[in-house]
Amino acid sequence: MIWIFQDVALSFDGFLKQEFVMDWISRLRAQSRKLHEKAHRLPFFQALWRHQLPLESFVTQLRCLAVIHGAMEKFLAAHEFQEPFRTLMEGYRPKLPLLLQDLDLYRERWIVNVLPAVEKALRIADRILVLSEENNTALVGFFYTLEGSTQGGRIMEPHVQKTFSIPEGQGTAFFSCYGEHTQDRWQGFLYALAHAAMDASAQETVIKASGELFEALLEVYDKLFPFLEDQLGHHVVSLNPEAGQHPIPSDERELRASVAAAHRCWNAFPYFEMRYGDRGKRFAASDAAWLTTLCNLEVGALIDQVFWLADVLSVRGIPTWLLENQLRMLHEELMKARPEEMARYERLLLTSDVLRSRRASAFSEEKMVAFGHELKERFFRGSNGPWKDLCLVLAAATADEVSGIQGSLEGVLSWLRSFVKDTDLDTDALKQLLETRARSHP
Ligand code: HEM
Repeated sequence: MIWIFQDVALSFDGFLKQEFVMDWISRLRAQSRKLHEKAHRLPFFQALWRHQLPLESFVTQLRCLAVIHGAMEKFLAAHEFQEPFRTLMEGYRPKLPLLLQDLDLYRERWIVNVLPAVEKALRIADRILVLSEENNTALVGFFYTLEGSTQGGRIMEPHVQKTFSIPEGQGTAFFSCYGEHTQDRWQGFLYALAHAAMDASAQETVIKASGELFEALLEVYDKLFPFLEDQLGHHVVSLNPEAGQHPIPSDERELRASVAAAHRCWNAFPYFEMRYGDRGKRFAASDAAWLTTLCNLEVGALIDQVFWLADVLSVRGIPTWLLENQLRMLHEELMKARPEEMARYERLLLTSDVLRSRRASAFSEEKMVAFGHELKERFFRGSNGPWKDLCLVLAAATADEVSGIQGSLEGVLSWLRSFVKDTDLDTDALKQLLETRARSHP
């Protein structure tokens, strides 16, 4: 395939003609040019141009890119006011939402992953995490490679549409990311990069890091296609590209049931949506799938794991009462899907009961519900919907605090303070009442 690698940066500003800038930017771009030669030889792209790429390779590609862009965007979100990222991000369009949108087209089909490619992508995400602690300059190079690579999307888009018979305007949001502004955005990026205050050693770091990521991406594509049958399988990244690496059921019926239970629980408690949004919903699905794998453990070990999770979640704003409910719904959905596995799934019910008795022995169910009503009457009178649910969540956090999980109340209050900051809710008075009630139940 013939393609043109224009020296776009040269045309828009005399500044770039200055030798010292030209030198490092053109070396950076020459490296990309060279690495593209390798990219074009990869069987993945050859198969795509011939419209013979298997769907598993393509969908896994989207998931791998979601893992990598997700990790990069987490870093960028934390550095968006810091130079050079602030300037490099002018006009930036986040890729993770676009990839998730494209993946939505395949959600109901439960397409398996090419697992070795996912492993490679997760390694890149880990590397981004390490560099975010150790070397932000290297992440400038990563940003250049990732942002630059979106330019190939314009060429891939029609092939993707044709290969997978995707109707126009669907499933290719990532590939058409900047649309007709692609050139402008890229020129702007290069201009900002050339103007960034970086000494010679930082410039070398950027070039080296950019090459490192390009090579690592080539490895991902190399694993994506061709693949062997036994390299295919489900992976948590299909449910949540930000979940990292943890087990999920290999059985598709169990996977479907886990996600159904997560969504049921999500819808039953509007607090989840209020606080955690779409990202939280993806974590709810991947966590539910992980909980299902715990059914394979002995009851004692299962209870230990769930108690550990319950305490971690409670101080992060998800009182154990919500997890109890999730476990019950998970049990119901799994029983619908595979009733023959009843003996394994009952362990979830048992664990939910043990969690409940810990909470109830400190703060009974009736008291918790009554306290929720009291909070609603005192602080949210006249407003219904999610506020009623929130009051029960606050009552449940109080119950956790009484049962010995220190920090549960603050787990919810810390969020609530910023959520209601423009309203007349007296959060100090609310906090005082919650703490008094928690103290009065030794
Ligand atoms: C591992 C895969 C790939 C990576 C990491 C990657 C990365 C990059 C980067 C960093 C740039 C910016 C170069 C610059 O202007 O400084 C770029 C540009 C570009 N890439 Fe890729 N790329 C990949 C695969 C492909 C493929 C398979 C195609 C084929 C269609 C392609 C087509 C393009 C095009 C057309 C440009 C714009 C070049 C220009 O306007 O001069 N890329 N890519």
